[in-house]
Amino acid sequence: MNADLLITNANLITCASPHGPKRGAAMQDVGQITDGALAISGDKIIALGPSAEVRAQVEAARELDVDGRAVCPGFVDAHTHAVYAGDRVAEFEMRIKGASYMEIMAAGGGILSTMRAVRQADVEQLVAESLQRLDVMLHLGTTTAEIKTGYGLSTAAELNMLQAIAELDADHAMTLIPTFLGAHAVPPAFKDDPDAYVQLVITEMLPVVAAWYERSHFPQACIPLFADVFCEEGAFDLDQTRQVLEAAQAHGMALKLHADEFVSLGGVSLAAGLGATSVDHLDATPPAEMQRLAASDTVGVILPAVNFNLGSHHFADARALIDAGVALALATDINPGSAPCPSLPLAMAIACRYQRLLPNEVLNAVTINAAHAVGLGQRLGSLEVGKQADVLILDTHDHRHLAYEFGRNHVAQVVKAGKMV
Ligand code: NIG
Ligand code: FE
Repeated sequence: MNADLLITNANLITCASPHGPKRGAAMQDVGQITDGALAISGDKIIALGPSAEVRAQVEAARELDVDGRAVCPGFVDAHTHAVYAGDRVAEFEMRIKGASYMEIMAAGGGILSTMRAVRQADVEQLVAESLQRLDVMLHLGTTTAEIKTGYGLSTAAELNMLQAIAELDADHAMTLIPTFLGAHAVPPAFKDDPDAYVQLVITEMLPVVAAWYERSHFPQACIPLFADVFCEEGAFDLDQTRQVLEAAQAHGMALKLHADEFVSLGGVSLAAGLGATSVDHLDATPPAEMQRLAASDTVGVILPAVNFNLGSHHFADARALIDAGVALALATDINPGSAPCPSLPLAMAIACRYQRLLPNEVLNAVTINAAHAVGLGQRLGSLEVGKQADVLILDTHDHRHLAYEFGRNHVAQVVKAGKMV
């Protein structure tokens, strides 16, 4: 076999899981191969295993001896709002002085403040501001990211956000997955009639967004389009959420949901019942809802950078979620308000400390399980033969240092789709 690149003398952390996402005790197994080698041809992994075995099979154009360092899959950030304009540093100060996130939102700030900045920006400005964020994320090991709209809240501005995501995907090394989040907040013009906004999302936005996706390059690249709703007191109730998700599904969109960030409205059961790909936040999810999630194929995504950033001492009960059998993923939720955080390793560090997850569990949660949370688990998220060669070479021999020694970057080299970036 001919390879373009052969990585040798590696502590290979495969996160392999050929039959779907990891659950329960399997979350603690990262599929380690000491003194391993990994062969890449084009954008794919063509062989991996103990160095001697791989060497015997592979003729490589280039060899890279990594001196025993850990080599793991590129991270997948399964929940982001990475496209936006401006910042909310003034609200950061308001929260330090005592205002809560939902109080700021109810007073017309929060998501609506970023809505105003996004409506003033054109696609070019959205791309320029977001490109810098994506560069930072890639540098920190994120090779794939889902990105939501939801700061336009009008048909035209939501389309601008989708267009920015498509242009960024075309220009940037990272793989990007678009999510339509028209039901993120009720815009001011509909303040007194939120149901009318829900109808606008369903009757006007969803058809236009579905048509946009068909014209975009995403279907050809086999990248799905998701629809998402912020199901929360002060945002959209369960009935409104169901209407939007069912309509999105009728347009062929895959589903995600923001549920139980502050209050449990039953969004987890709704998402699981509709066959959503993921349900995210889960901070206030009661045990019965965890059981329903565990019995489904829906991935649960925790976002502890939000709790940390809001100065909360309450975190999603990730141990109970894993013990219940939920396929658990971990994401940053990077956004200008609740989580201005590009770093999956920092989210991992928080989850280990405040949610009592083990370093191996958080690594599986940002790789193979996160790939399943964006519908790409068959293609990405682990080091397995046939998968896309999204590979991180760390600066440490022990992959657990990613979560242990926090506040610095352990990623020495990123390989994206077989190319050094
Ligand atoms: O996932 N909670 C709703 N949406 C985002 C926050 C967006 C924002 O504050 O701008 C979240 O936390
Ligand atoms: Fe979010």
